[in-house]
Amino acid sequence: MTQAICIHAFGGPETLQFESVDVPAPGPNEVRVRHTHIGVNYIDVYFRTGLYPPAAMPFTPGVEAAGEVVAVGDAVTGLQPGQRIAYAARPPGAYAEERIIPADRLVPLPDAIHNEQAAAMMLKGMTAHMLLAQIHAVQPGEPILIHAAAGGVGLIACQWAKQLGATVIGTVGSEEKAELAQAHGCDHPILYRREDITERVRHFTGGEGVAVVYDSVGADTLMTSMDCLAKRGLLVSFGQSSGKPPAIEVGQLAAGGSLFLTRPTLFDYIGTAADLQHSAEALFDVIERGAVTVQVGQRLPLANAAEAHRALEARETTGSTVLIA
Ligand SMILES: NC(=O)c1ccc[n+]([C@@H]2O[C@H](COP(=O)([O-])OP(=O)(O)OC[C@H]3O[C@@H](n4cnc5c(N)ncnc54)[C@H](OP(=O)(O)O)[C@@H]3O)[C@@H](O)[C@H]2O)c1
Repeated sequence: MTQAICIHAFGGPETLQFESVDVPAPGPNEVRVRHTHIGVNYIDVYFRTGLYPPAAMPFTPGVEAAGEVVAVGDAVTGLQPGQRIAYAARPPGAYAEERIIPADRLVPLPDAIHNEQAAAMMLKGMTAHMLLAQIHAVQPGEPILIHAAAGGVGLIACQWAKQLGATVIGTVGSEEKAELAQAHGCDHPILYRREDITERVRHFTGGEGVAVVYDSVGADTLMTSMDCLAKRGLLVSFGQSSGKPPAIEVGQLAAGGSLFLTRPTLFDYIGTAADLQHSAEALFDVIERGAVTVQVGQRLPLANAAEAHRALEARETTGSTVLIA
């Protein structure tokens, strides 16, 4: 038996129940892992509310964690009990002290990276790599706009983009978040509650607009994001913290200035073992060089996962939120 958060019906944070569950023996290509730290992500909210359907009910949410190998299946090579590992992977199940997971989703941790750091960054950091290096290779001097700049993905992405030489413009919900984003590479925080995002972006870019907008907010921001783009700019819609983004007609891309639009999912960028290794290595590299730091803004016991979700949805969090198993 192990302790895990279980969801029996879709709904609010109160549906996250701390319970005892069985953990089966690992299958041939599976591993049993014991978590020390678990990352909280907005995708966990999408699973909790039913926006993203789980394979079965009840289920345990969570797609990001760090800990150690407890036991390996007969066909698993390269992993041993006691080895430190981390992951960003589906199927969900990370909100647990122990779980079974496919072996090819685990990444061994270098000595320089500790478990809390890993749990706070595997999903968010590989997402930042996907956004800034794979979807579009950000260029020195290029102006870009990152929404939710003081969030989990946001703080990592701002630092990484700055390190690549970009001019980073970010939206934030408060003065405190503006200061935090600025301390993490955001050149120009925009306080969207009292400033006009499009007007400020045009101001910071000499009227041109930005080369790329990274939009994880969705409903509230997507059309504004289009208006912030330079001609031939790229709109990356990669989340919906505020709700479903509005539909965009193909013709609107032409009217906006020959724009590009993509809606990526990290799991399509780390689907093979080689892709996963490439992304994890890129992330570990920027962390080990000190080019990017991981800001853990909230730490809670696993049993208090409901409080973590409430705070995330209420926009009260900054940086990453970690549950301690
Ligand atoms: N496509 C992918 O593969 C992928 C991978 C990872 C994450 N994501 C997406 O990236 C986004 C960020 O994830 P995260 O876990 O790092 O969360 P987060 O950015 O730390 O938290 C969400 C933030 O969004 C902002 N926000 C604006 N409107 C909001 C609203 N109506 N409700 C809630 N928040 C709102 C808030 O910041 P302000 O107060 O500053 O507005 C809030 O703190 C999520 O949309 C997630 O789905 C996508």
